Amino acid sequence: MPMLAAANLDPGANPHPERLDLTRKPNRHLAFGTGIHFCLGHQLARIEGKCALQALFERWPDLALAVDETQIRWRTRPGMKAIDKLPVIAP
Ligand code: HEM
Repeated sequence: MPMLAAANLDPGANPHPERLDLTRKPNRHLAFGTGIHFCLGHQLARIEGKCALQALFERWPDLALAVDETQIRWRTRPGMKAIDKLPVIAP
């Protein structure tokens, strides 16, 4: 089974794939799969993501981590990297 999350961290596809770069172009990723089963909801998902981030940072423009980044706990799920909890402060 191919690991899409691992493919998205391939520096051969995108330099510095570990950086969150919303302006990355070209943005060669497989988050929505590929081929005939390419995600049917990708346009909705992109709009939702944009709206959510826009609302979050408009409401809390100074949002920052409340803990040292070494204290962030990651979920241990095969094939998927996800943060368990992300404590933040909004001064
Ligand atoms: C960030 C959000 C989303 C991600 C990362 C995502 C990711 C994916 C991926 C990787 C696949 C391919 C699975 C495979 O090849 O077996 C897929 C398929 C699919 N997605 Fe999404 N998806 C997202 C949101 C959505 C939304 C919002 C909808 C519908 C409203 C949706 C509907 C579908 C459907 C129906 C398929 C199956 C397409 C097919 O098999 O032909 N997805 N998605």
